[in-house]
Amino acid sequence: MVNVDELRNAQRADGTATIMAIATANPPNVYDQSTYPDAYFRMTNAEHLTHLKNKMQLICDRTTIKKRYTYSTEDVIKENPNINSYKAPSLDTRQDMAATLIPELGKEAATKAIEEWGQSKSKITHLICCSTMGPFIPGYDFQIAQLLGLDLSIKRVMLYQQGCHGGGTILRIAKDLAENNKGARVLIVCTEITLVGFHCPTETNVDVLVSHSLFGDGSAALIVGANPIPDVEKPIFELISATPTIVPDSAGAICASIREHGLTFHIGKEVPGLISNHIEKQLIEVFQPLGITDWNSIFWAVHPGGPAILNQVDAKLGLKPEKLGATRHVLAEYGNMSSVTVLFVLDEIRKKSTKDGLKTTGEGLEWGVLFGFGPGLTIETLVLRSVSIA
Ligand SMILES: CC(C)(COP(=O)(O)OP(=O)(O)OC[C@H]1O[C@@H](n2cnc3c(N)ncnc32)[C@H](O)[C@@H]1OP(=O)(O)O)[C@@H](O)C(=O)NCCC(=O)NCCS
Repeated sequence: MVNVDELRNAQRADGTATIMAIATANPPNVYDQSTYPDAYFRMTNAEHLTHLKNKMQLICDRTTIKKRYTYSTEDVIKENPNINSYKAPSLDTRQDMAATLIPELGKEAATKAIEEWGQSKSKITHLICCSTMGPFIPGYDFQIAQLLGLDLSIKRVMLYQQGCHGGGTILRIAKDLAENNKGARVLIVCTEITLVGFHCPTETNVDVLVSHSLFGDGSAALIVGANPIPDVEKPIFELISATPTIVPDSAGAICASIREHGLTFHIGKEVPGLISNHIEKQLIEVFQPLGITDWNSIFWAVHPGGPAILNQVDAKLGLKPEKLGATRHVLAEYGNMSSVTVLFVLDEIRKKSTKDGLKTTGEGLEWGVLFGFGPGLTIETLVLRSVSIA
């Protein structure tokens, strides 16, 4: 059990893992959410399925998403008829494209993160990469190390097929590495692209309409380490604790599988209820040691799986509207980018805190929570501590 007084009085730079840079990247192609069903049914030659198109328009309108970035453009889909035929074997084509696109997008985010950190890349000791898509052997951690010219002896960890909670998982592992290896500087790179799971609409699989209304492509990279060098490395958030759990009786609520015809998803209608019913238990467990019981007194970074999840969490906990403001903003501007999304939310929180002239990186507050939700159902819960903005 964590000691409350120790935690409350903890000095900054006390060996606690600290985020020192956050950067993001997206592909250049962007779709407007309100007209996406037109583009999607056109590129999949399915305009005659008007009832499915109407249903997708309704789902798209309800997502609260404004736009999404993607490599799955009309040209790419039309040029690859096997991706565009329901259940046609197409894994080779998808994997060949992903093998180039994932490392390239990851490299873009990682380069920006290293730039913000401002230190030589030779000081990076560990690399953790995460992608639901792939896998390739050697993995995209290997490709990122090569593309960035990192030390050949860098200690690598590759996380494939985590799903949407992966942003929390990768931070949890980075925290362990940073706190248990003196001088460690951990580069995290999370990249998701939807091309591997792109399918044309079909009467028999409503999951396709739901996932193609929610998901987008993106990458986020962070630098994590303990004891930032004063006046050289700039702390953004401290990672105080990391607590994963599986929601009881939720197996099958979200699942995915790599088949000959690509990645397939199932997202059950019960997901928002399962998450919102379990979330307060997680909050109590992680904030009890700090004596925090008012969920409006902390800042919130949540994986925005879909608005129904956020609305039910809001309602269950009686959160003020602004608490999920950064989360809803990222959902609106980028869609659900799976594991990457919550890392975009962290970036949004610290940037908006500075822009609004607040006194800390966490919306002016000291303590915060980060939630990742994904298959299992798995909930990753991290307690964050903000940093003063000079
Ligand atoms: C998908 C979503 C945006 C739809 O918004 P909504 O306000 O629930 O909209 P509605 O209830 O009007 O549903 C619109 C249609 O989508 C269907 N639908 C909604 N969620 C669905 C799901 N998970 N699976 C299949 N169909 C679904 C509804 O049945 C309805 O179709 P119908 O009119 O034929 O009955 C919303 O339900 C949501 O955010 N879901 C959470 C998504 C999720 O679990 N993400 C986790 C990924 S980590």
